[in-house]
Amino acid sequence: TTAQIGVTGLAVMGRNLARNFARNGYTVALHNRTAARTRELVDRFGDEGDFVPTETAKEFVAALERPRRLVVMVKAGDPTDAVIKEFAPLLEPGDMIIDGGNAHFADTRRREKQLREQGIHFVGAGISGGEEGALNGPSIMPGGSEESYASLGPMLAKISAKAKDGAPCVTHVGPDGAGHFVKMTHNGIEYADMQLIGEAYQLLRDVAGYSAAQIADVFRTWNTGRLDSYLIEITAEVLSHVDEATGKPFVDVVLDQAEQKGTGRWTVQIALDLGVPVSGIAEAVFARSVSGHTALREASRHLAGPTARKLGEEEAAAFADQVEQALYASKIVSYTQGFHEMAAGSAEYDWNIDLGKVAAIWRGGCIIRAAFLDRITRAYEAQPQLPSLLSDKSFAEEIAAAQDDWRDVIATAARQGVPTPAFAATLAYYDSLRAERLPAALTQGQRDYFGAHTYRRTDRDGVFHTLWGGDKTEVDS
Ligand code: 6PG
Repeated sequence: TTAQIGVTGLAVMGRNLARNFARNGYTVALHNRTAARTRELVDRFGDEGDFVPTETAKEFVAALERPRRLVVMVKAGDPTDAVIKEFAPLLEPGDMIIDGGNAHFADTRRREKQLREQGIHFVGAGISGGEEGALNGPSIMPGGSEESYASLGPMLAKISAKAKDGAPCVTHVGPDGAGHFVKMTHNGIEYADMQLIGEAYQLLRDVAGYSAAQIADVFRTWNTGRLDSYLIEITAEVLSHVDEATGKPFVDVVLDQAEQKGTGRWTVQIALDLGVPVSGIAEAVFARSVSGHTALREASRHLAGPTARKLGEEEAAAFADQVEQALYASKIVSYTQGFHEMAAGSAEYDWNIDLGKVAAIWRGGCIIRAAFLDRITRAYEAQPQLPSLLSDKSFAEEIAAAQDDWRDVIATAARQGVPTPAFAATLAYYDSLRAERLPAALTQGQRDYFGAHTYRRTDRDGVFHTLWGGDKTEVDS
């Protein structure tokens, strides 16, 4: 037998992806470092399709039709390099290695370049949707060569999620690291979405005085409107879940320290390198770190706060409506920032990423799937060179309609002492873009004063310096 595709690394993501290929009619070669996993997969799911279990790297490679398609589903980092080292010598020009892990795009660029010298196509593919997505249809963000996509595209389209209009949630994102860059940014946006939802929850609890069950209902209602999305839906589920052991809301018995595996942090690190302001995403990453600093939080309990004001029932309901407006406005801004980062990455690395297509393949399968993404696709279709999502008229109009409530919510949060870092940062970004004059002029003056760093003027071209220590005349620099 020859298999059309092979999967090595059969932990839950790899296993589910292999089953997905098999269920879609492909013959799938299987390989894992420890053969027990391979056998287990065949024992339990062998009847779902055609599997070719193999034990050694040689057997695995021999089981694949040529050009070979070899999907690597191991932990990102050193294990990926180890797998490449093991398999690359066994491959031939034209073969493809597809890395479906959450690799750093710089690693993907390095691996792609190295394997290209050997004539092997290395495809860094972002895959989103968790275990369930891997099995039933993920959103897939492949990078790599055109040639590899011509061979892989139809297969990936078959196993991917389908958007409401039936379109497969996969596209050739761009060369080398483009796919993993886009997946990284997806996760950064995911962090921001989750943080904004978290802030909304905290406000409904601490300002509106709602119970977890009541808040679940609020999210359920929001999910029928413009915020309709997977993350809002699961938020309602998590909030309405009751802990069996204590009978308390589940959310009240979970330790409030958020963990992270790194993709959100990378999004911010890369944004800093590219000079792209992603303040909403950054605050989401920082909020997770703050939550984990137990000693700091313990030591700060004595810090003074305002006296809380309880809202009446009607006031609370009105406030909840305002929070929906704030959440939506902040969401538009954090997506604006994430899409800016992808545009900047695309320009920096010559990837030519179609941002409208990216939004389109995020409509199904992935963690940030949402009705909202259709709108982003349409905005880029109408104007492919859209400088910013906020330049799109319809988004600008929606924010205009939401802004009074958005400001009220953040003001209330500040007055009541409820932390809303991502709400506040996204509003500050919005107001910064709107501002006719920013205090950056003063910053330039200070820099010129203490370091002769020079400045430009509003009224004529050139670079200038003021002799601050002398008679304060201005000189050309
Ligand atoms: C996805 C998820 C997936 C994973 C994240 C979680 O798109 O399917 O984003 O990639 O669940 O890595 O990230 P943290 O552990 O950093 O929250």
